[in-house]
Amino acid sequence: MASKLLLPFLLLLALVAGSHAGSIAVYWGQYTAEGSLASACATGLYSYVNIAFLTTFGNGQTPVLNLAGHCDPSAGTCKGLSSDIKSCQSRGVKVLLSLGGASGSYSLSSAADAQSVANYLWNNFLGGSSSSRPLGAAVLDGIDFDIEATNGAHFDDLARDLSQFSSRGKKVYLTAAPQCPYPDAHLNTALQTGLFDYVWIQFYNNPSCEYTSGNIAKLTSAWKTWTSSVKATNFFLGVPASSAAAGSGYIPPNVLTSQVLPAIKGTAKYGGIMVWNRYYDEQNNYSATVKSSV
Ligand SMILES: *[C@@H]1O[C@H](CO)[C@@H](O)[C@H](O)[C@H]1NC(C)=O
Repeated sequence: MASKLLLPFLLLLALVAGSHAGSIAVYWGQYTAEGSLASACATGLYSYVNIAFLTTFGNGQTPVLNLAGHCDPSAGTCKGLSSDIKSCQSRGVKVLLSLGGASGSYSLSSAADAQSVANYLWNNFLGGSSSSRPLGAAVLDGIDFDIEATNGAHFDDLARDLSQFSSRGKKVYLTAAPQCPYPDAHLNTALQTGLFDYVWIQFYNNPSCEYTSGNIAKLTSAWKTWTSSVKATNFFLGVPASSAAAGSGYIPPNVLTSQVLPAIKGTAKYGGIMVWNRYYDEQNNYSATVKSSV
């Protein structure tokens, strides 16, 4: 009797485990031809948009926002993005400012430097106030750490300082985009704070832990390590939106939906996928193709 019930019970568990729908996060800002932020949100594909990137900050430098040809922060023309940000938020999309990126000039020289960057972010992009506000009056939902340079010193301080601002009313979401080799060379100390809501792990440009044709084992092994070693609200599988979007690690949509997602969706803290980036996503129709399986 017991064994007769066991199989249906396990099947039911598998159905329940596989039924929680995930979300899609995307990076926007580095390709002028990707269209507007508002149009990206209007597709209905995304729950989170990371505006990429604040490429220069810390160590006493004047922060610089780089949004390719979308607008020119020094001329004040990015302030017009406020209406796009509000339009995204009115659709339920959370909009974050992404710090760092693969090429930038950033580092934190001390705990005091981290606090000063946190204050700058609060006043210029979050709930504080400043006469500059590069993206205008709109209040972003949080800050994304795409830290791919520096040894990561004081980024834990920055995470703690930013999280303190949540007590002033609107929650400040903290997200991070580490590389899939664990532990991450730049973000480990910050992630150890346990303060991050969403961690979107980059499973590309990292042959030691990414998908290679016909082999999902390295990816699933790294996924298990990440999700069991780091404290965060949810984990996302970061993927290139097309084979042109990254040097390696592209997962064709049919492989993602038939092999990779079934292998990781059972994780209790599975949150969905992160797609790099909006430009290639539009070109390759990637998110639209996989969305119903995420
Ligand atoms: C993108 O994929 C969706 C879902 O499969 C499909 O409905 C749509 O027609 C596709 N769009 C293009 C431009 O191929």
